Amino acid sequence: MTHIAIDGPAASGKTSLGHALAQHFGFLFVETGKMYRAVALGLNRGLALDEVHITMNDAGRILLNNDDVSDILHTPILDQGSSRVATRPEVRQLLVRLQQEIAAGRAVVMEGRDIGTVVLPHADVKIFLQASPEERARRRASERHQAELDKTLREIITRDTRDQTRAIAPLNPASDATIIRTDNKSLAEVVSEVIALVEERLHTGDEAAK
Ligand code: C5P
Repeated sequence: MTHIAIDGPAASGKTSLGHALAQHFGFLFVETGKMYRAVALGLNRGLALDEVHITMNDAGRILLNNDDVSDILHTPILDQGSSRVATRPEVRQLLVRLQQEIAAGRAVVMEGRDIGTVVLPHADVKIFLQASPEERARRRASERHQAELDKTLREIITRDTRDQTRAIAPLNPASDATIIRTDNKSLAEVVSEVIALVEERLHTGDEAAK
């Protein structure tokens, strides 16, 4: 089963790339950041951690205690809340297990921070997206219609720093990841570059199996 891992810092384009790849290859798309966001939402609603149950349905929607919360997870409060809960070992253990169960026996495109390093260390293709904090802040602000670019930039830097310096599964490219800088590239360029890479790997795999 083909596994494609995409990692990178906040607003680096992982979701747009992942979505396009999953559509192109007909694979399930798994946005693991949404799972951390859903845990943060549960805690913000006053639940204890052991009362928070996260699942994903076949359409890739994220459920918090059976309630589809996929569309309410992208807020500045949950940006920061998710990166705070993501430092907790018990949260990571739970979600990594869920992500590995989802990927078992299925072709997936999975995006996050530790997919190539921890969740799917044997993924067929590992992509690590990079872009300057300024470029990422510009993209995020326009996506969310946020007027304050400086504030968006500060929030991205706070989250990057927390994600890169946490004790468990800090954000890092896997040693065998292909690093793609997206500052001066359009989404379409990045997508076709990665499709070519995946096709080459899959083809090489076929040849090796002969
Ligand atoms: O990708 P997204 O911005 O939705 O992720 C929200 C937060 O969840 C990140 O800032 C990070 O702290 C955490 N996360 C993680 N590991 C993942 C995916 C997300 O620690 N695989």
